[in-house]
Amino acid sequence: MKIFSLATSLAILSTVNAFPTLDLWSKFIAPSPNDDSIFINNLADPQNEPAPAPKPAEEMVYIEDFESFDNLDIIDETAYKKLPEIDTEQLQSLVTKDALRSRAETLFSLAEKSTGKYGHPTRVIGSPGHFATVHYILRELRKLGGYYNIKSQSFKALDGRVNSYSLLIDGVQPKTLDALQLTPPTPNKAPVHGNLVLVLNSGCSLHDYPSFAKDNIVLVKRGECAFGEKSRNAGKVGAKAAIIYDSNGPLQGTLGTPEGDEVPTLAVVEKEVAHYIEQLQKVPTHKFETTLYVDSYVRNISTLNVIAETAFGDHDNVVSLGAHSDSVGAGPGINDDGSGTISLLEVAKLLTKFKVNNAVRFGWWAAEEEGLLGSEYYANSLSKEENAKIRLFMDYDMMASPNYEYEVYDANNNDHPNGSGDLKDLYVDWYKQHGLNFTFVPFDGRSDYVGFINNKIPAGGIATGAEGVKNKSSKEKFGGEENKWFDPCYHQLCDDLSNPSYEAWEVNTKLIAHSVAVYAKSFAGFPEREGKNETEAKVQQSGLDDLFMRRGDRYIM
Ligand SMILES: *[C@@H]1O[C@H](CO)[C@@H](O)[C@H](O)[C@H]1NC(C)=O
Ligand SMILES: *[C@@H]1O[C@H](CO)[C@@H](O)[C@H](O)[C@H]1NC(C)=O
Ligand SMILES: *[C@@H]1O[C@H](CO)[C@@H](O)[C@H](O)[C@H]1NC(C)=O
Ligand SMILES: *[C@@H]1O[C@H](CO)[C@@H](O)[C@H](O)[C@H]1NC(C)=O
Ligand SMILES: *[C@@H]1O[C@H](CO)[C@@H](O)[C@H](O)[C@H]1NC(C)=O
Repeated sequence: MKIFSLATSLAILSTVNAFPTLDLWSKFIAPSPNDDSIFINNLADPQNEPAPAPKPAEEMVYIEDFESFDNLDIIDETAYKKLPEIDTEQLQSLVTKDALRSRAETLFSLAEKSTGKYGHPTRVIGSPGHFATVHYILRELRKLGGYYNIKSQSFKALDGRVNSYSLLIDGVQPKTLDALQLTPPTPNKAPVHGNLVLVLNSGCSLHDYPSFAKDNIVLVKRGECAFGEKSRNAGKVGAKAAIIYDSNGPLQGTLGTPEGDEVPTLAVVEKEVAHYIEQLQKVPTHKFETTLYVDSYVRNISTLNVIAETAFGDHDNVVSLGAHSDSVGAGPGINDDGSGTISLLEVAKLLTKFKVNNAVRFGWWAAEEEGLLGSEYYANSLSKEENAKIRLFMDYDMMASPNYEYEVYDANNNDHPNGSGDLKDLYVDWYKQHGLNFTFVPFDGRSDYVGFINNKIPAGGIATGAEGVKNKSSKEKFGGEENKWFDPCYHQLCDDLSNPSYEAWEVNTKLIAHSVAVYAKSFAGFPEREGKNETEAKVQQSGLDDLFMRRGDRYIM
């Protein structure tokens, strides 16, 4: 039997597509990033494709890049059966720094494809650098001679940008001011004016808003419910804008997916508004004239996930792992998450030298930086049957921070789906066995495991640190520089080829290989999926607010 059959459907999802043909590629790379109308639906519904869009010359470069696949290695079942059984030590031994470095160089050159449009290298969703990254992942997978069935999954993602904002209360401009991500702009991008109205309690109920909040600007305390809910409540009572205050700042929050009632929303540190709060508690109608301005946009764009599953192995007991293919707009994202993207590609390649007992499914998620959108879209779109086949999900985001520590997400079997704690133990045991120190970090919603946990799939992962500051004990355990960020180039232009620690990257890629090898061999002792045979209602998005404080980079409440 020839395995190489890209048309074969894994039937993971109705919206999953087989490898896009050259023709489809030309369609979804042809539109300019401002035009979201072209490939949103046509990948999901191939029968109903609109006529191809005109192809601007600049975009054609990716098509020309496309290699010919005429000489693919095609393995057949007989050849596959001659491969050795999966062995963790052997798989790990094949991981090399040179291979990671060479792929990083390629990835950086792909990020440079955005320079014309963005002024610098980036792989942010919607950019030529991100399309080229997705293209590269697909191309590398296709070189593996049919060992994998490859799918892409297109989805709409929210692309929000805040360009500028300002606030004046009683003639005074707060010193620390922050705009909530995905905030709408003020109408016509002109300032709005009104009196400052203090909201009672936490603004999570419409009853907390005085009647005179209408046509004014509300001041709301952080906590109890999501920022988005406060902003929507403000909109529902007719307020023009909202200001959220907290004792800590800056808030670094997001309003989350807009539902329509949101108003322009800014955040301040409590001490800067303490004086107004005190006054308004005494005289709620006291007039503090307020002017608030936000220039921002929120738009839908289309992007895609890539999913590759071994053709062989038990497809009812799937080992899954993922990294995100996109970067932030500020830079090329070689560590975040070029490192995870590349580690997965490398392990996927090395795995082809072995036979597996359980199927292994690799995912490259898009729009992580916009709020974990790709992974969540994927996890939410699994049918109950497909969901039940995934035994666990392993998240690999930022494997190579230059001032690294070896971080293991602090998941457990009680608060998280049963098996999450077993996965954590696998990482811990490996670091111990290799004489390496490790540290637990909060499993609080910062990366792509959220969608899986919320759909009851056991999950966990490792990382090496982002904008956190290395303290004395971390320096003693891992070396590096005290009082400096784990990744001083986090979300910046300098997250380039000189940023990653290739040492940490190699160590963690070996651990990724180990995690794949162990579970591809056997799930003996690993908890069965909970409720596998029950007709359980899927946890919907609202569930996210309960379990996790964050969605990606930003706090949601
Ligand atoms: C994005 O698309 C969704 C689904 O089609 C739609 O409900 C929503 O209003 C759109 N959002 C924006 C900001 O255009
Ligand atoms: C130092 O940082 C680590 C994480 O890097 C943390 O677990 C630990 O609690 C911190 N120690 C102190 C004394 O703050
Ligand atoms: C682990 O941390 C201890 C300090 O807690 C340190 O003495 C030791 O050298 C570290 N081990 C490695 C391999 O870095
Ligand atoms: C997890 O599953 C194991 C069996 O695989 C079981 O012994 C254990 O009690 C379960 N833990 C929880 C918290 O449900
Ligand atoms: C439900 O349980 C039965 C028997 O234990 C098993 O044969 C079947 O595959 C299970 N169904 C699902 C969807 O897991």
